[in-house]
Amino acid sequence: MMINGKTTICGIFGCPVGHSLSPAMHNAAFASLGLNWVYLPFEVGPKGLPAAVEAVRALNMAGVNVTVPHKQQAAALVDQLSPAAGLSGAVNTIVNRGGVLHGHNTDGEGFLRALEEEAGLRAEAGPALILGAGGAARAVAAALALNGSPEIIVANRTPEKAAQLSELIRNRTGCRASALTWPAGPGQGGPGEGDWASVLARASLVVQTTPLGMGPGAEGTPPLPFDLLNPGQVVVDLIYNPACTTFMNRCQAAGARVFNGLGMLLHQGAAAFELWTGRQAPLAVMRDALKQNIQVRRQETGDRRQEGAGE
Ligand code: ATR
Repeated sequence: MMINGKTTICGIFGCPVGHSLSPAMHNAAFASLGLNWVYLPFEVGPKGLPAAVEAVRALNMAGVNVTVPHKQQAAALVDQLSPAAGLSGAVNTIVNRGGVLHGHNTDGEGFLRALEEEAGLRAEAGPALILGAGGAARAVAAALALNGSPEIIVANRTPEKAAQLSELIRNRTGCRASALTWPAGPGQGGPGEGDWASVLARASLVVQTTPLGMGPGAEGTPPLPFDLLNPGQVVVDLIYNPACTTFMNRCQAAGARVFNGLGMLLHQGAAAFELWTGRQAPLAVMRDALKQNIQVRRQETGDRRQEGAGE
């Protein structure tokens, strides 16, 4: 990489940011297309975000990714919001167009692209059950609803948050949306077990967005009634480390087609790359960079970092 007076700068704001795979992914992409661009990590504390976002404009950066814990605050700091960023209330990508800062949410877009590429499934294919109601769930639900999903059902440990997310989707889009009681466990006959049977009978897609199962050796799993899954039903766990969670194993054993969160991570980056550069993202190069860096991470002893759910 040759940095000179004409190098275009983009990067990522987060805290912590040292674990991010995005610098490796984007710098590999710039190099492969011969672009004189560089992508840098910036550790930005909670109080520093307004000044950091203003610096994107002041330093004439092309744009940045924004990650934990800044995605919601970033939505209030940009000049314009894309429909997905507006609905999810979160920005993971800022694009500087002549001093006007545009906020996007490519996490949801990345989820949809990965779903189509890996599972051959589109949002409009059928109802989606989302497990969890945090930031990742909001991004996925917003993207599904804005892209033709007929129905979204949200189940969350804290039922109020599932109700809030389903209400948001229902009120702000034409998509049907409802909340389900977090199951007590298969066969325990808790409240709503009949609802779970009917939801799983009609859902084309189940998305696991909680951190349960993250980190090497983590065995936790949402209490999905696994025996109610249909053969061939598509299940996506947004976690990518480990590559296969206990949840994924149990869904696969029940006959589902399961995918992890690596595709979403790749495609949210590809969508951001395209917004910044106007060029098609070199997917193979970006995928290799991600895989190599994840491999290195896995070999590092003592790394118990949790990984999943977009950038
Ligand atoms: P993210 O941005 O990765 O989605 P988040 O916004 O903190 O992270 O959301 C985490 C989600 O995982 C929430 O839905 C949370 O449930 P609560 O609303 O009940 O907190 C869920 N979650 C986290 N830990 C969990 C656990 N041990 N069991 C069940 N759900 C959990």
